[in-house]
Amino acid sequence: MQADEPGSLPKISITSLTRVFDTGGSRLAALGPVDLTVRPGEFVSIVGPSGCGKSTLLYMLGGFLQPSSGSLLADGRPITGPGVDRGIVFQEYALFPWLTVADNIAYGLRMKRMQAGELRDRVAAAIAMIGLGGFEHRFPRELSGGMKQRVALARTFIYDPQILLLDEPFGALDSQTRELMQDELLALWRSTGKTVLMVTHDVAEAVYLSNRVCVMSQRPGRVVAQFPISLDHDKGREAVMLSDQYRALHDQVWLEVRRQVGGKG
Ligand SMILES: Nc1ncnc2c1ncn2[C@@H]1O[C@H](COP(=O)(O)OP(=O)(O)O)[C@@H](O)[C@H]1O
Ligand SMILES: [Mg+2]
Repeated sequence: MQADEPGSLPKISITSLTRVFDTGGSRLAALGPVDLTVRPGEFVSIVGPSGCGKSTLLYMLGGFLQPSSGSLLADGRPITGPGVDRGIVFQEYALFPWLTVADNIAYGLRMKRMQAGELRDRVAAAIAMIGLGGFEHRFPRELSGGMKQRVALARTFIYDPQILLLDEPFGALDSQTRELMQDELLALWRSTGKTVLMVTHDVAEAVYLSNRVCVMSQRPGRVVAQFPISLDHDKGREAVMLSDQYRALHDQVWLEVRRQVGGKG
């Protein structure tokens, strides 16, 4: 596989990255230093204590926030702002309140200047995928949290970015929808070879979906442990989640997260 070739250019390179926030005279070290490399086509998850800087890390990768120090490369080039190569799903959905479901989803494609017919087809397919048929013309304020989250996912997926940055993308969903969306994401990742970096507080989700799980320390968060994972998803969800391999990995990651939350890293 291309992703495993020695010398293949990393998709994401994070080196000695830190972020400090100035809050009314006091300085808050929110993140880092973080060192992390993600290869093309890899699915990497990040888990760690609340407030350790996970969202801050994704905002910087998205190009919405400047690092305080360190370097951040996508495809070997410094990240200087948002770009069409990176799609981000924010923790709080961030839908445009003045646009309907269909127009929110179409937004990224409009920026790509897609032809009207193809745009309509792609939006319809995306709405079917997230199970929101019949809600095309509703506005975000008319949707539940879970529905908004699904619109936010569709809006990013449809845009077809090479790199997906997902900040607790399934956090607001009920467990049934959450499993459906996880398997949709898995299928999308397996068929497209996209590079995914996902923040989640759900260890089971991280282990089930990823090639590698990174555990972060308390704020300022650093990557303190990494767990490579290779589960055979051809077996299906049930067989994977009941396998000894999955359970052993789950327990290892869970224990490490517990250690970090307890501050005994
Ligand atoms: N814009 C900001 N100004 C000041 N402090 C911030 C800002 N954004 C985040 N923080 C603080 O930085 C720390 C890390 O936040 P965040 O990245 O959201 O953590 P996580 O996503 O891991 O829960 C928190 O203490 C948070 O309060
Ligand atoms: Mg967060």
